Amino acid sequence: MDTPGTIFIVEDDRKTCDLVSAFLKYQGYDIVHATQASTIFDTIHEKHIGIVIADLKLLADIAPDFMDRAKKINPLLVLIGYGSDVHIGSASEENVFLLSKPLNLDELESLVMRAREFQTMKMPDAATVPHPPHTLSSSIIGKSGRMVALFELIEKIAASNATVLIQGESGTGKELAARAIHQLSSRSNRNFVPINCAAIPEDLIESELFGHVKGSFTGAYANRAGRFEMADKGTLFLDEIGDMKANLQVKLLRVLQSKEFEPVGSTKSQKVDVRIIAASNKKLENLVESQDFREDLFYRLSVIPITIPSLRERREDIPLLIDFFLNRFNGEKRHAVTGFSSETLAILCAYDWPGNVRELENLVERLVILKDSGFITPDDLPEKYLARPVQVQAPAIPDGNAFPENGICLNTVLDEFENRLILQALERTGGNKKEAAMLLNLKRTTLIEKLKKKNLAYGKEFEAQ
Ligand SMILES: Nc1ncnc2c1ncn2[C@@H]1O[C@H](COP(=O)(O)OP(=O)(O)OP(=O)(O)O)[C@@H](O)[C@H]1O
Ligand SMILES: [Mg+2]
Repeated sequence: MDTPGTIFIVEDDRKTCDLVSAFLKYQGYDIVHATQASTIFDTIHEKHIGIVIADLKLLADIAPDFMDRAKKINPLLVLIGYGSDVHIGSASEENVFLLSKPLNLDELESLVMRAREFQTMKMPDAATVPHPPHTLSSSIIGKSGRMVALFELIEKIAASNATVLIQGESGTGKELAARAIHQLSSRSNRNFVPINCAAIPEDLIESELFGHVKGSFTGAYANRAGRFEMADKGTLFLDEIGDMKANLQVKLLRVLQSKEFEPVGSTKSQKVDVRIIAASNKKLENLVESQDFREDLFYRLSVIPITIPSLRERREDIPLLIDFFLNRFNGEKRHAVTGFSSETLAILCAYDWPGNVRELENLVERLVILKDSGFITPDDLPEKYLARPVQVQAPAIPDGNAFPENGICLNTVLDEFENRLILQALERTGGNKKEAAMLLNLKRTTLIEKLKKKNLAYGKEFEAQ
């Protein structure tokens, strides 16, 4: 999850609404607000709402089956006023979270985090996206040998409490893997708490991690729980750990060793039961070598080291991921893009993807937005994907002696090979499908079906529609 997303607040009490909006905006969420619940479903749909926070009384004003409908779409955080006697039937649902007024902001933050986690892992566009067969924890896709091995490893280590260090280039899915470990573990009903060690200003990170007591520094108006405390009995995800400053590395090492910490300004230690997963897109071994990362901390963190391979090291996953994102964005944006022409797929399979899966996801989203319907062809691709001439028209078919250095996309090569043979047969018979089918040892209807499915037309080689 890159951007925290949009939260819909349904609340008619101005003070509560301002407080919740300001607090969540500060945390990076976009906020949409309404003072009544009647337009709730339209807003969820139009504004791509992630989480709904609503006052219980306003919810009770609308249809009695509201809770049942809403909880199928989005996680719902219900605010309960003092002395409220409205009965809330679905309170025990795992995507309905209850919070009493007056609000405690730490509790709000913790529940929003849990709701977000629930949404990412359990409702990834559940209504629209059929889950492909090669998935882990319903959201990580991959069928390459490297990814299948990684899925097996993740399933095994989820069962333990060991500290995990996930390394890999930017956009390879490190955060997704961390979330999957948490989801598959016995801690899944508690918080998964991410903290980006590179994004938080240096003077705040210690208080973010360990919390602070009232008056410990200017601006510390109240006691505040840190991420360690929020992650108690759950999982703490230390993202971009390679950017952690030296003095904090020492403190983190101490917490990992003793499992206790002191909030900023306090002398009292707090004990926590937290599973640590750290991630870095810089090679920590190199940072240790250049003395930018403590060696002892590196060994503490890498009890179980995982490396997520770059996308160019597992090109077989590209068509699968394209399909997955195409389904997702077609559903989300209510578009009907049919697919990618085989020529486009071949170009994308040969591309090196410096931004890995994130780049691919962004590209598919952009293409679906711009395209609406029909097939995506090379003309639809941004310039940079076309910059490197690829042997697209006739992809190299490995002969055993000269397997391409960067590997191949087997499905695409086979697909192109089949296309070429079909077109050659049609050429031989001057476009007569019945005779071409005989040459190919196929039924005429099978050939016609294939031509349709592949968008192949004799005389317009490899052109989609
Ligand atoms: N195997 C995968 N299947 C489906 N989606 C994936 C996969 N890998 C990554 N993604 C998607 O790609 C995007 C980037 O993934 P993620 O944020 O986990 O990467 P990262 O390695 O943490 O990147 P960074 O180093 O830049 O923080 C996310 O939107 C994620 O959902
Ligand atoms: Mg990340």
